[in-house]
Amino acid sequence: MTDKINLEKKVKEYENYIEMLNSILDTTNEWFVAVDVDARITMMSKGYKEFLKVTNVIGKPVSEVIENTRLDKVVKTGIKEVGQIQEIKDNRVVAMRIPIKKDDKIIGAIGKVMFKDIEDFYALSKKLSNLEKEVDYYKKILNPNKQANYSIDDIIGESEIIDSSKNVAIKAAKTDSTVLITGESGTGKELFAHAIHNASKRKLSPFVKINCAAIPSELLESELFGYIKGSFSGANSDGKIGKFQSANGGTILLDEIGDMPFSLQSKLLRVLQDKEIEKIGSNDTEKIDVRVIASTNKNLEDMVKNGKFREDLYYRLNVIRLELPSLRYRKEDIESLANYLRKKIAERLGIYVEGISKEAIKILESYSWPGNIRELENIIERSINMLDSDLIILPHHFPSRLYDSTSSSVFKIEDSMTLDSKIKIIEEKMIKEALANNNGNKSDAAKVLGISRPSLYKKMKMYGLSV
Ligand SMILES: Nc1ncnc2c1ncn2[C@@H]1O[C@H](COP(=O)(O)OP(=O)(O)OP(=O)(O)O)[C@@H](O)[C@H]1O
Ligand SMILES: [Mg+2]
Repeated sequence: MTDKINLEKKVKEYENYIEMLNSILDTTNEWFVAVDVDARITMMSKGYKEFLKVTNVIGKPVSEVIENTRLDKVVKTGIKEVGQIQEIKDNRVVAMRIPIKKDDKIIGAIGKVMFKDIEDFYALSKKLSNLEKEVDYYKKILNPNKQANYSIDDIIGESEIIDSSKNVAIKAAKTDSTVLITGESGTGKELFAHAIHNASKRKLSPFVKINCAAIPSELLESELFGYIKGSFSGANSDGKIGKFQSANGGTILLDEIGDMPFSLQSKLLRVLQDKEIEKIGSNDTEKIDVRVIASTNKNLEDMVKNGKFREDLYYRLNVIRLELPSLRYRKEDIESLANYLRKKIAERLGIYVEGISKEAIKILESYSWPGNIRELENIIERSINMLDSDLIILPHHFPSRLYDSTSSSVFKIEDSMTLDSKIKIIEEKMIKEALANNNGNKSDAAKVLGISRPSLYKKMKMYGLSV
């Protein structure tokens, strides 16, 4: 008898729990459904039923009640799905599906609509990204121009060539030696400079950048070294602190060093040698402790030869050399870079973008990227803006110059390219010719080129030629 009373008590308790759960779901107006291991509905919230215009759903297969549901798959696979877009009754909702397990066995699954309209989702993500921007803005006001924003982890790419650049950067970060970063425009010179600073013991001190090409040469000296009160007409009456002094204890990035006027080069050399600065108009010197990183896309060796850059300054800067590879020589990295940039830009624009199609990636891989990663960044941003209702970047979202086969196969040798880039262009051309002349036979092509077969494979991979 007592057993029966206990059982009735348990059933009552169980019914109360269900009632309580239903009330919670209904009052919060959540769209929620639960299914058993056969994907039959065991529970559905009032709001969801009203939206679907259904009433008696308990025991029915979920696929008969909810359009495009995947709960029947989730009870089979046991894999949760979060943030997926589902089309129901012409609405695009964002759904979450979670398997329920007991003693390691799947006993059912629950589905919840996270955003009832994808527009709500967009609005929320836009709001978040605006808030993040605001925080960034105030951070910059509090610490203007003195922040290194990127670390080694922000450098995307697993190719051998970028890996070795990252290793040089990590080693450079352990010392105070001057670093010269060279590479074509948009290859990540500034990003590497930030990363070196952030990995160094100076990371909590300022990171100050000055672009030697953007400042008129007559002002560059005062920007770099500052001036004392009343040193020249038009000067601020309180004098000015130069960038070297604001970088004290930290790192200074002399960007576009190739554009530094010849006359200033000797003053910079003195600063590097003596580790002290002299403000304009002053006879006193001040000791400074600044790590110097210089960068340029110009060919400094050529400039030295032509008498446009001081040889002694060149050697003083070129203590650790970081030569960044052009994007066209690390095609293996294009897919991961493109997806990294897609996520980053989509987040900034507050647009939801699921991915990039395989065909679109192929097009990116066969283009020559004269503007390197900056150009890739621009192309991805442009294509995200062209998306309309697509959630995936497709070939037609790219500008037509990317399809132009001539731009991908014939690389022009430009004066501004480094010796290494020029050699690589010739090397790629010779490899392609050797392969064509030997009907694609790699052993014969390697023999003609006078290199080993493994070395040919390595180079073909680097140039994005199918092996
Ligand atoms: N390996 C990388 N991974 C991720 N983003 C990268 C990488 N390299 C470059 N970028 C991005 O590409 C853009 C261009 O990089 P950066 O400004 O560092 O190039 P740069 O070599 O200084 O170019 P320029 O010579 O035109 O000044 C930046 O937005 C940067 O964050
Ligand atoms: Mg730069």
